[in-house]
Amino acid sequence: GPSGDLITRILQALDKSESIISSEAFPTATFVEVKAALDRLKSRDMVKYDTIERQEALLEPEGEEIAANGSHEARVFEAVRKAMEGLSVQELEKTIGDKNVVKVGQGKAFKEKWISKAKDGKLTAITDSIHDVTRDQLSTIKNTRTYPDAKVLADLKKRKLIRMQKVISFKIYKGTKFALEIPDEATDLTAEMIASGSWKTATFKPYNFKALGATQPAGALHPLNKVRHELRQIFFEMGFEEMSTNRFVESGFWNFDALFVPQQHPARDLQDTFYIADPPLADKPKPESADDKNDYDAYWKNTQAVHQDGKYGSIGYRYPWSGDEALRLVLRTHTTAVSANMLHKLAGVKGPDGRPPAARYFSIDRVFRNESVDATHLAEFHQVEGVIADYNLSMGELLEFMNIFFGKMGIGNLKYKPAYNPYTEPSMEIFSYHEGLGKLVEIGNSGMFRPEVLETLGLPKDMRVFGFGLSLERPTMIKYGISNIRELLGHKVDLSFVQNSPAVQFGAKA
Ligand code: PHE
Repeated sequence: GPSGDLITRILQALDKSESIISSEAFPTATFVEVKAALDRLKSRDMVKYDTIERQEALLEPEGEEIAANGSHEARVFEAVRKAMEGLSVQELEKTIGDKNVVKVGQGKAFKEKWISKAKDGKLTAITDSIHDVTRDQLSTIKNTRTYPDAKVLADLKKRKLIRMQKVISFKIYKGTKFALEIPDEATDLTAEMIASGSWKTATFKPYNFKALGATQPAGALHPLNKVRHELRQIFFEMGFEEMSTNRFVESGFWNFDALFVPQQHPARDLQDTFYIADPPLADKPKPESADDKNDYDAYWKNTQAVHQDGKYGSIGYRYPWSGDEALRLVLRTHTTAVSANMLHKLAGVKGPDGRPPAARYFSIDRVFRNESVDATHLAEFHQVEGVIADYNLSMGELLEFMNIFFGKMGIGNLKYKPAYNPYTEPSMEIFSYHEGLGKLVEIGNSGMFRPEVLETLGLPKDMRVFGFGLSLERPTMIKYGISNIRELLGHKVDLSFVQNSPAVQFGAKA
């Protein structure tokens, strides 16, 4: 192969001289090719080498042009000399065909006393021949990639006619086991070699400890999982407890009714929600463990009351609330269904003072929306959700919390826009300025849970709960620079993208 050829050529060249310089001996071979060949020979002690770094001078396009056609002043002189009667500046421009060459060249040619201006304004030559120094210098550089006078190099570089470039080459010497070819090498020690004794004189192929080895077919974490991991760390750092989110199928009760979403709400209809046909109805909410001391009957009745007739100081929605509608099964449309369930459990916990303790819950898991799929929407995605329950929480504290939370993700400059959720008041969409897009982008939704939700759940009147949600896909797409969500999730995903995506680092620039 080509590297084999190079090896033979290196060995033959070294046979004839004490040392060789790779860039001179093999000017067309690349650095990588030479290095690979040398390392193979070096590992067998057949050659030794030193690395040499040099600065080479290369012509810029204008330098190339001068090397080919002469300097501007020389071209002006030649044109003027050839015209017997002299040339006006306009005629000169026509002859040379480049106004800039005439402008620069004329001035220099005057200075060098090669041409002068006659009374009629025409330019005439006042010498027979000239020496085009710049062209000669550039020709030398073109051939030798350097020039003996460093001042000349510096001057040409300043005039942007040449540029300097670092070049690495090798000075190569014979090694202790120098030979004209690599001897036959055994890769394994065999039983025959031991029996015959040929192992004593055999040459063994050296181990290449730098070889990368074959890639092992192994699983890889999906980028969404990597971002999820980072987010979980942030939640844990901030004292959150992870909610169990394995229930993709929920009753409408937990997904909607517990959250004061009226049964006629547009989000509940078939456009947005995937309903489960079989079984047709869920069981009524009931304790899931022995230590769940909540009164589920009362909770059911209070939910109906708060929707239908109003309760806890609220006038309600005033429509006939249907238990069957609440028991239809849905693919959960948000993880707030889980938060509602957790807050209901919290309401049954008695802390040291006999009241539910403050709590912080989070989850990062899948939700489903019956939406048409496009570049930024899928029918299923992942929601990051956090809720904070505490006594006498104020909006100021919550805004500060958001600054810290998103700050840990490297997202700053939060802006809020009033929004509407049936279960929170006030509700605020969270925006952040996106440098890349040059505009504010929506990053999440948040709000203070309404008394209609919290008091029905059985939480004390002075306990406030703040919640927020965002998609996991949005920050992941931003971090990995993906603009189409289908490159991240679904059947079009390129598996090598998953395999090769690095871990994320929040706070580092995307
Ligand atoms: N459930 C909301 C959503 O899906 C997010 C949210 C959670 C808003 C908790 C307020 C409180 O966008």
